Amino acid sequence: MSALASARPTATALYAAHVNPQWVRLLDLLRMNVRYRKCIGAELFTADGRRILDFLSGYCVHNTGHNHPAIVEALRDELSASGPAMLQSHVPELAGELAARLTALAGGRLSRAFFCSSGSEGVETVIKFSRAHTRRDGLLYAEGAFHGLTCGALSLMSDPSWSDGCGPMLPGTEPIASGDVDELDRRLATRKFAAFIGAPTQAEAGIRVPSRDYLATAQSLCRRYGTLFVLDEVQTGMYRTGDFLAAHTFGLDPDMVVIAKALSGGLIPVGAVLMSDAISNSVYDSLKRAIVHTSTYSENGLAMRAGLATLDVLQNENLGARGRTLGDDLRRRLSAALSGYDMVKEVRGMGMLSGIEFTSPKQLRPRLAYESFHAIHPAMFGQVLVMRLFRDHDILTQICGNNLQVLKVAPPLVASEEHLDHFVESIRAVVDLAHTSTSFWSEALVLARRAVRI
Ligand SMILES: Cc1ncc(COP(=O)(O)O)c(C=O)c1O
Repeated sequence: MSALASARPTATALYAAHVNPQWVRLLDLLRMNVRYRKCIGAELFTADGRRILDFLSGYCVHNTGHNHPAIVEALRDELSASGPAMLQSHVPELAGELAARLTALAGGRLSRAFFCSSGSEGVETVIKFSRAHTRRDGLLYAEGAFHGLTCGALSLMSDPSWSDGCGPMLPGTEPIASGDVDELDRRLATRKFAAFIGAPTQAEAGIRVPSRDYLATAQSLCRRYGTLFVLDEVQTGMYRTGDFLAAHTFGLDPDMVVIAKALSGGLIPVGAVLMSDAISNSVYDSLKRAIVHTSTYSENGLAMRAGLATLDVLQNENLGARGRTLGDDLRRRLSAALSGYDMVKEVRGMGMLSGIEFTSPKQLRPRLAYESFHAIHPAMFGQVLVMRLFRDHDILTQICGNNLQVLKVAPPLVASEEHLDHFVESIRAVVDLAHTSTSFWSEALVLARRAVRI
C-alpha cells in the first residue's frame, strides 16, 4: 500500500467526521462496528470472515431477504433500458401498474395510491389528506406508536424522547391509550378528529398485538363519527405478519393504509399511501390542484420497478404463508426454550414479527442487578443482550424503539429453519448466562462505565 493510501482516512472516520459521529461511537461501544462485505438473504458476510444472521431486517425492510436476485435483475434491466425514470411531465406507467397491483391486493375501499419515498412521508400524506377530506383538524393516535421522525409524524408519537428540543409539534394531535374503547368513543364523539391513526400491531411499542375486538370497534366508532380509520402498516404490511396487510388478518376495512420499508425489497426508498377514491378526489379535486400534493421522487421508475419485482417475489415464493408458519413455530419454540427463566415475561407477535419481553426477576440478587442496570439506562439490559447475541452468536437484533425491555425478532421471510434453530439456541444461551453468571453483569457494568465516559 502506498504511503498516500495508508494515510487516507477510513470510511468510518469519514462517516464520523461528516455524517454522524455519535452513531459510530454507539456501534463501537456495542462492538457492532463491523464492515459488511456481502448481504444475501438472511445472511451478512463481514470483511473479517464472519457470517452474521440478520434478525433485524433493517427494521422490517428485508422481507424478501437482502439483495434478492430477481429484484436485483429487475433493477438492472430497468437501468439498462434507459427509460423515463423521472420526467415530471408524463404519465409514469410503472406507477400505474404498481398502484393497480397494490390496491388489488389491499382490497376493500383502497382503490388509489399516492407514492412517496419513506414511511414518514406517507404519514405526512395521511395528515394532509384526512384533513382535506373531512375538513377537520384533529388527529387521534395510539400511545406508544412509532410513526416516523418528520414533524407531522412525530406529532403522532407520545414518547417525548424523539421530539425533545424540536419545538412545538402539530396542534390538534392527541394520544389515546390503546385498547380503551370507552375513551375512544368519548373522544371521537367530539367530531373534531379527521383521522384515528393506529397500527395493527405496534412494533416499536414492544410488538403489541391488539385484540381483534378493539380494532373492529375502533373502526366502527370511526365510521359512526365521520373520522377516517387509518392504519400504519409500514412494518406490519408487505406480508411481514402473514397476510399482505395485517388489516386482513384482523378483518378490517381501513380508509387509508401506509406502507413503505419492504415495498422495494430494501433497495430503493419508497412508500405508498393506499386510500379510497373519495379521499384522493378531495385533494385532487380540480385541474388546478392536479399536483397539489406530490414529491419529486415519488413515482421514480426504479422505485416502482423495485416494488413490482418485490411483489412478484413475495407472491411467487409464497413468503407471507411461509413467514406465518415459521413465525408461529418460532414463538412456540422460544416460549418453550425460555419458559424456565424468571426475566422472560412474554414471547409474542404475528407472522415473522416477534418480541421477547424481559422483566425484573423475582430472586433478590438478579433483581438488584437488573434494577440497577435499569436505573443506569432503561435500554442497558436489552443492549447487552443485543451485544452478546452479536458478538458471541453472530446474530444481529435490536430492542424496540419505544419499549426498551423488548427484544425484536424480525428475520427476513426467507430465513431458513437452520437460522431459526440457531437463534433459539443462542437467545436461550444468553438468557441463561444472565440468570446464572456474574460475568454477564460485570461485563455489562464495564459497558455502562464506558458509555458514561465516552
Ligand atoms: C410503523 C412505522 N411507521 C412509520 C415509520 C417511518 O418510516 P420511515 O423511517 O421510512 O420514514 C416507521 C419506521 O420505522 C415505522 O416503524
